[in-house]
Amino acid sequence: MCGIVGYAGAEPAQDVLVQGLLRLEYRGYDSAGLAVVSGDGSIARVRTAGRVERLVDATRRAPLPGRVGIGHTRWATHGAPTERNAHPHLDCRGRFAVVHNGIIDNHAELRARLKADGHAFTSDTDTEVVAHLLEEAYAGDLLEALRKVAEKLRGTYAIAAVSVHEPRRVAAVRHGNPLVVGLGQGENYLASDLPAVLDRTRDGLPLEDGDAVAITADRVRIVDREGRERRPAPFRVNWTPAQAERGGHPHFLHKEIHEQPEALRATLAGRVEAARGEVRLAEFEGVDLSAVNRLRLVACGTSYHAARVGELLFERLAGVEAHAELASEFRYRRPLLARGEPALCISQSGETLDTLEAAREAKRLGHPVWAVTNVLGSSLGREADRGLLTQAGPEISVASTKAFTTQILALSLIAVAVGRANGHLAAPAARAFLRDLEGLPEAAEEVIAASREAARQVAERLREVPDAFFLGRDLDLPVALEGALKLKEISYIHAEAYAGGEMKHGPLALLGPGVPVVAVLTQGQVADKMAANAVEAVTRGAWPVSVVREDLAGRLAPTFTIPAGHDLTRPALAVLPLQLLAYEAAVARGTDVDRPRNLAKSVTVE
Ligand code: F6R
Repeated sequence: MCGIVGYAGAEPAQDVLVQGLLRLEYRGYDSAGLAVVSGDGSIARVRTAGRVERLVDATRRAPLPGRVGIGHTRWATHGAPTERNAHPHLDCRGRFAVVHNGIIDNHAELRARLKADGHAFTSDTDTEVVAHLLEEAYAGDLLEALRKVAEKLRGTYAIAAVSVHEPRRVAAVRHGNPLVVGLGQGENYLASDLPAVLDRTRDGLPLEDGDAVAITADRVRIVDREGRERRPAPFRVNWTPAQAERGGHPHFLHKEIHEQPEALRATLAGRVEAARGEVRLAEFEGVDLSAVNRLRLVACGTSYHAARVGELLFERLAGVEAHAELASEFRYRRPLLARGEPALCISQSGETLDTLEAAREAKRLGHPVWAVTNVLGSSLGREADRGLLTQAGPEISVASTKAFTTQILALSLIAVAVGRANGHLAAPAARAFLRDLEGLPEAAEEVIAASREAARQVAERLREVPDAFFLGRDLDLPVALEGALKLKEISYIHAEAYAGGEMKHGPLALLGPGVPVVAVLTQGQVADKMAANAVEAVTRGAWPVSVVREDLAGRLAPTFTIPAGHDLTRPALAVLPLQLLAYEAAVARGTDVDRPRNLAKSVTVE
């Protein structure tokens, strides 16, 4: 939430910053702003309410001269999304400019004290206190001043600052919110995540909580909370700039849905030895997987739905009792985990604060933390004891798609590894499952191609409906949950998912003529029951839509068909038509597909 970018180099800073903000816009899009240190030693600032495009227009009309600066795209927490609350914020005399991602919990008391000392505030944000605190703390070294200011802050933050006193430098500090250094040739960057500057570099330096950093065109200096110099090892992402572009697709979401076959392929690459019924997970080398007999899967949103698929995979493939939990609940309910029970945290970004804090809580309680993430160098990936990286490439659209399917794949691999280690999964059963798993990329291609037109047609009818219901049983239930989430978040159609058998315990009362009910039916053992539940809805006048495994089509007439295959591998396919349906419904209703209202990608506040 909120995107930060900083630049120190030889090019006009505003151009680099604006490009970075456009790439970071998925993190927030209520308002945006830039501050550039001009050659004459002053700070020039421009801020606009609304999308980054408005900032682009403003900088075209009145360019900001200077080669060092900071930029921000906002997802409002404190203070309405107006121009006066847009970042960067300045101190009383315009000598410091700051941008911030996160929430400063003690901002009210700091503001009261600063006001009493004569500081004049011009916004309603928590961030502005930092500018005034810098003004007080500055004694000739911006990095040191920011580090001192951070000692006074409670909450979570990534903050970047520039000052007229040090016109060649951008300083920053992080605690609980993401921030990386991008390493360039004769220029350096700061960014909430590396895709912001992927057109300029693939090399980064990770920052730890408590780190403060200063960049100039040719130097990066990092110090820890105590002021000791740190030299973290650089990392290089294998993402390409093209992956962070729309590449001819009308929306990032469209592109990302269609990238799934490739994302699945890349995530599988080198992992499966189907003939032997084994998987290769070097990441778990040295871990006694046979000792795992309970597992907690922890995540938010779409990743939580992947966790819901995961819990069933672990039970079936590994005979391990597994529970999926919402990270935001896990943290505060004093969870009782069995001795040595790992917390397997799943997060596309690896920066979702609830998931990160849940991982930290599990660690505090003495449990191993495993992670499935998609972003190299993410906080979760670094803090986890063990982790698997999905190879989905950058996911830019706010609504998650390719992360979900690749997470399911990663969980399948770990479940097989545990099942093989503890003997629950015999070699023939593992072979059958893995052969099917290897076929997923091709099957996904097929399903996407075959579902496009039907998705458009159904979406046309969805255009006017206020509500929709999704039903599924067993592994199809998390798919139904994910289908409903996709539809509501991008088309704004109110959508709910229920276990097929639950409808008669209450929700059936909501059905009437023409209400769409999307039934997911890919699980052999519950096919008859699920079909009966769909019929119960139709009997009450519901408009039936269905995703059906082709060999089960006799039970329920399919709107979308999924190829026959192993029950446990079907969720990654069954979700594809639902993603397309949500996409087409959003397009038909004219919503902002990639940037749904009120949302932001990578939720780094609680
Ligand atoms: C929904 C969506 C969100 C994320 C959730 C967790 O389409 O994108 O629900 O899944 O915010 O994000 P990560 O996986 O980055 O932890």
